[in-house]
Amino acid sequence: MKVIAFNGSARKDGNTAILINQVFSELEKQDIETEMVQFSGQIIRGCIACYKCFENKDQRCNVKDDLVNDCIEKMLEADGIILASPTYFADVSSELKALIDRAGLVAKANGDMFKRKAGAAIVAVRRGGSIHAFDSMNHFFLISQMIIPGSSYWNMGFGLEKGDAEKDEEGLQTMKTLGRNMAWLLKKIQA
Ligand SMILES: Cc1cc2nc3c(=O)[nH]c(=O)nc-3n(C[C@H](O)[C@H](O)[C@H](O)COP(=O)(O)O)c2cc1C
Repeated sequence: MKVIAFNGSARKDGNTAILINQVFSELEKQDIETEMVQFSGQIIRGCIACYKCFENKDQRCNVKDDLVNDCIEKMLEADGIILASPTYFADVSSELKALIDRAGLVAKANGDMFKRKAGAAIVAVRRGGSIHAFDSMNHFFLISQMIIPGSSYWNMGFGLEKGDAEKDEEGLQTMKTLGRNMAWLLKKIQA
């Protein structure tokens, strides 16, 4: 079993990555393979509304000059998908939103191709707006017919500077619980 995580932060190995790694450590304890794709330094354009995905029906985006199709392939191969983002103006980063729009439309064009995979959203935040970012990612899972595990709080961790999330004990605990619940769910889905 495998879980793929997409880190929408412009900062490599920042707070969002710290939170993802907390979830990963619990998944790995239960022999679930993990991989993180960090969008830092990547240019990922938004959906151009060409609707070619509905003509092609090849499980790929017709815009092929960035990493979105690699991400889609990893999503198809995985049993669980984590979307993770810092809070930028009370929402997800532009790059993460571009993945949501393009992978989401391709999934719709191909019969909800992520249906019944497990999906979890993670947010890093300094102070406010994280719930809105969290909702943005959960909307992708829900309209894709995916199954969402919960945790003991909404999946967010606090911090401004790189590394601050390590000091948010409740945030770290929330991620660990999420990891355990995601592992439990993945095993049920596969059974
Ligand atoms: C463009 C931009 C917008 C931001 N907007 C918010 C915001 O709306 N609310 C907030 O609490 N923090 C905001 N932040 C702070 C980040 O969410 C916070 O530093 C987060 O921990 C960064 O995660 P990272 O280390 O993974 O990049 C913003 C940061 C940037 C660069």
